[in-house]
Amino acid sequence: MSYVILLFIHLLAAAFWVGGMATLHFAVRPAAVATLEPPLRLRTMAAALRRFFVGVDAAVTLLFATGVAMILLAGGFRAVHWRIEAMMGIALVMAGIYVYIRASVFRALRRAVEESAWPVAAGRLDMVRKLVSLNLALGVAVFGVAILGRAA
Ligand code: HEM
Repeated sequence: MSYVILLFIHLLAAAFWVGGMATLHFAVRPAAVATLEPPLRLRTMAAALRRFFVGVDAAVTLLFATGVAMILLAGGFRAVHWRIEAMMGIALVMAGIYVYIRASVFRALRRAVEESAWPVAAGRLDMVRKLVSLNLALGVAVFGVAILGRAA
């Protein structure tokens, strides 16, 4: 597959992941807090996150697959600019945080929602919010490293 097609898929995946986190953080969650009572809000947020995470699973897989493929096409890890290594390093931290949210915090949120344990669910959702905002900041940093790093 040619390099530009890989880059195209890479950028779509990055835009979906980082843009999706921004939408959740700045629009969906505040709107749910402003308009819905806790039980409905927590059910809605759990349902929205479940759907978003299916897309993120695909986006993260594609990001790493296309990133590694481009590195190999460019001549291997030793041949690439430091900004690519930094991109991959920060993205690995982001992926680790995502796996923790997906496998632990979100699972506990869904269980609490199923059991109508609203205070527990609210605590888990708040943890998701904090971790997603951390990943959002890291995602913006990756864009910065990727593009502004060209000048260094
Ligand atoms: C959230 C995670 C990521 C974001 C937001 C991101 C973003 C970007 C952006 C904006 C570019 C275009 C840079 C340019 O053309 O100068 C790019 C290119 C690239 N990325 Fe990523 N990336 C991420 C993860 C990764 C990972 C995990 C890898 C490696 C496994 C990787 C490897 C690459 C490579 C090799 C290029 C091509 C650079 C070039 O052609 O100069 N990226 N990425």
